[in-house]
Amino acid sequence: MFSSRLSFADTTNALSKAKAKRLAAGLPVLDLSDSNPANAGFAWSATDLGPMLRRDGIQRQDPDPLGLASARTAVSDYYSSRGARVPVDRLFLTASTSEAYSWVFKLLCNPGDEVLVPSPAYPLLEVIAALEGVTLRPYQLVQLAGEWVIDITTLSVNRQTRAILAINPSNPTGAFVGRRDRDVLRGFALKNGLAIVCDEVFLDYPAEGVASPGTWAGEANVLTFVLSGLSKVALAPQLKVGWIVVAGPAVATLEACRRLEHIADAYLSVNTPAQLALPDLLRRAEPLRALVRTRVAQGEATLRAWTTASVTGCTVLPRPAGWTGILTLPPGVHEDRFLMNALSEGVWVHPGYFYGMPTTVPSVVLSLLTPPDGLSAGLQALDRALKRT
Ligand SMILES: Cc1ncc(COP(=O)(O)O)c(C=O)c1O
Repeated sequence: MFSSRLSFADTTNALSKAKAKRLAAGLPVLDLSDSNPANAGFAWSATDLGPMLRRDGIQRQDPDPLGLASARTAVSDYYSSRGARVPVDRLFLTASTSEAYSWVFKLLCNPGDEVLVPSPAYPLLEVIAALEGVTLRPYQLVQLAGEWVIDITTLSVNRQTRAILAINPSNPTGAFVGRRDRDVLRGFALKNGLAIVCDEVFLDYPAEGVASPGTWAGEANVLTFVLSGLSKVALAPQLKVGWIVVAGPAVATLEACRRLEHIADAYLSVNTPAQLALPDLLRRAEPLRALVRTRVAQGEATLRAWTTASVTGCTVLPRPAGWTGILTLPPGVHEDRFLMNALSEGVWVHPGYFYGMPTTVPSVVLSLLTPPDGLSAGLQALDRALKRT
C-alpha cells in the first residue's frame, strides 16, 4: 500500500532504540547533539517578535508564488551586503531550506535520477532525496594538511546524474568550499551538463580569524541554486522561511525560474506573517548571530581544553565555520559501544558515521551551541564512558 520512498522509515538503529527506551523509563538524557538555537538560549523574545509578526497585511494572502516582494527585496539586500547581486525575480521563498532542496530536486530530477553529494554531509539530505525519488551518489571530501578538499577521483556521473551539491560551509566539518574546489565543481558541472546546488545556511558563522570565501549567489557560468533560510541566518527556525537563489547564465536561469514558479505556485508554502517579518529579522539578526559565534567558540575551547586535560586520547578537528564540533576517538574505540556507554551515563551524541565521517577514524559529532554547564557535565560523562569502553 505504501510507496518505497519511505523504505528508510523501517529501520531504527540500536542507538536510537536505546535512547527511546531510556527516555520511556523516565531517565534523563543530556542531548549534546541538540542544535536548536532556542534550546541553547538563542531566541527572539515574544516582545520583539510580536510586533514584527502583527503587521498590516497579515490578513491577506499575496498570490505571488515567488513570495512577497518586500521579503525578496530584503533577501536580495542580504546578498548585496555579502557582495552578490541577486535580482528579486531570481529569488523564491520556501518554508525552509529542506523544502528548498525538495523543490530543486523536483525541478531537476525525474524519479531514479541522481545528485552528487559530498561525504561527509548533513544526514537529512538522504531523507529529502528519498522523498523526491532521487538517488544520492557521494563524492568524497578528505582532509589534506588539516583542510577538507574534494577527492576528485571520487567524482563520477552516469546518464541520470543531474546536479552536484556543495555545502558552503559544511555541516558537520564546518569547511568552506575553497577556491580550488569551487573551480573543480564548476568545471565538473560544465563538462557534464550538471546544475550546482549550494547550501549556505551556515555562511554567516565563520570561526574567528577564518576568512569566508563568500557566497555562490553571484555565480555567472553554471546554473546554480543557492539555498538558505531564517533557521540559521536569523536564528528563527520556528518561523519556517527559507529561500532559493537562482544564478548562472541568463537563458538557463530564466528557464529554471519559469519552471520553479510552477512548483512554488502549487504549494504557496510561506505564511504571510513570517514574510512580513523577514526584512526586520534579517536587518536585526547580526547581534544574535554574534552571540551564537561566541557561544560556539567557547564550546570549542571547552572541548579542546577537555581533550588536552583528559587522558582519553581524543582530538578536536579544526572548525573553520558552523556550530558543530567533531571529536575523534582514540584508535580502536568502537563508536557504537562508546555511545551506548555514554547513553548509560545519561549523554547522547551522534556517531561520526551518521554524517559519513570515515569509519577508519572513529568520531562523534556534537553541537557547540550546548550551554556551558551542560557541555562540561556532558564531557565528564563522556570521559567516564570512554574509560569503560
Ligand atoms: C547544512 C544544513 N542545511 C540545511 C538545514 C535545514 O535547514 P532548515 O531548518 O532551513 O530546513 C540544516 C539544518 O540543520 C543544515 O545543517
